[in-house]
Amino acid sequence: MRELREVMHGLSRVKPFAPALLATLVLTGIDAMTPPAAALIVAALIMGYFLRPSPRVKRESKDSKTEIHRNEAEMTILDILPDPVVLVDSRRTVLAATKAAKDMIGPAMVGRDLSQSLRQPQLLSAVSQSFQSGDAQHLETQFSGSLARTFDVHVLALNHEDPARRRAMLVFHDVTERLKLEGMQSDFVANVSHELRTPLSALTGFIETLRGPARDDAEARARFLSIMEMEAWRMARLVDDLLSLSRVEVNEHVRPQGRVNLTELLKTVIATLAQTAQERGNKIVLREGANLPDVTGDEDQLVEVFNNLLSNALKYGAENTTVEVRLDAVARIVDIAVPGVAVAIRNAGEGIASEHIPRLTERFYRIDKGRSRAIGGTGLGLAIVKHIVNRHRGKLTIESAPGEGATFTVQLPEFKTP
Ligand SMILES: Nc1ncnc2c1ncn2[C@@H]1O[C@H](COP(=O)(O)OP(=O)(O)OP(=O)(O)O)[C@@H](O)[C@H]1O
Ligand SMILES: [Mg+2]
Repeated sequence: MRELREVMHGLSRVKPFAPALLATLVLTGIDAMTPPAAALIVAALIMGYFLRPSPRVKRESKDSKTEIHRNEAEMTILDILPDPVVLVDSRRTVLAATKAAKDMIGPAMVGRDLSQSLRQPQLLSAVSQSFQSGDAQHLETQFSGSLARTFDVHVLALNHEDPARRRAMLVFHDVTERLKLEGMQSDFVANVSHELRTPLSALTGFIETLRGPARDDAEARARFLSIMEMEAWRMARLVDDLLSLSRVEVNEHVRPQGRVNLTELLKTVIATLAQTAQERGNKIVLREGANLPDVTGDEDQLVEVFNNLLSNALKYGAENTTVEVRLDAVARIVDIAVPGVAVAIRNAGEGIASEHIPRLTERFYRIDKGRSRAIGGTGLGLAIVKHIVNRHRGKLTIESAPGEGATFTVQLPEFKTP
């Protein structure tokens, strides 16, 4: 912050060059800076330039309305900044606000006391503090309302050495998304650790038992070893799924280029699941609509999508029923408005209550954790499916009601020669 004040102070001495300096900064350095730093520096430079009492300004009326107009005009330059910026005088009257600030706080804030527009006591006391001390203040503050948001706010004291012209500049930077991502990241790490620890503690527990009480019990040994094998496989599957998820995430912005015939691909997936289906007394049938185009896709990833969805249909669907896979040409994929193919996978069974449906594609989300774990699920399958479908610019929809089974539909854009 001190550096900033020095920049402004220095600027007052090189005033004739300030616009050129500013232009250079905007053109060269701003891309590389973090948004709040860029906003602060550009704002400080502009304010530093405009707020110096020039001889012309000194002769101007001291009427605050005139000053508001002048500042408003100058502040429009800052409208290019995505971060809201507000300028107040030492009586806390808002002298100017950028477009982003007016959009966020309300258009009528200029000319009024700041406390009429902003009701955050911490923020108001940071402004008073900056006037008293001349030091910059930094705080995080919440805005409630229909869309709750968190802002990182820098309050900058301007012209502190001249009591008559003291100003405070507030620069708001929205950190809601960053905080959400950080929260998701730490939840994810906590979930992964928990999911890995469960099979690990089973393994260490059984090792102890085999060394101790079950040492000479051949029958218990065989039973425990097979449980240990299952737990070890579960860990391996979890690691595979995590790797698969991170690979898909890395590539998500790169559109696949391949040409895929979905009928052929689904036949292969169905064949690999034939034995699992048979063990549960299930049948998988494939029904095709007319005039199916090929789709644009990554074959391996699409195998992963349909393998996940069909395995789920078998795992969570009722035994001794038929799982239906329907392929249809669609003229317009919902929300995307391009032609493509819809693959609907329908299973009979207990279905899914509506409150769970939007959350199924979250990592590790399982309706019945115990049950999913018992049948070897990690809760990552649908998260992977969602990311792959997004990468394909496709659409995943889930329809279900308790007692009515479930239908998972994937729509994929048709192949176009690149
Ligand atoms: N066809 C379905 N019918 C009912 N519930 C389903 C169906 N498919 C998925 N679910 C529910 O959604 C949850 C998440 O599915 P997902 O495929 O992400 O994880 P999983 O099958 O438990 O594990 P994984 O696929 O990673 O082995 C499942 O645990 C299950 O509760
Ligand atoms: Mg699954």
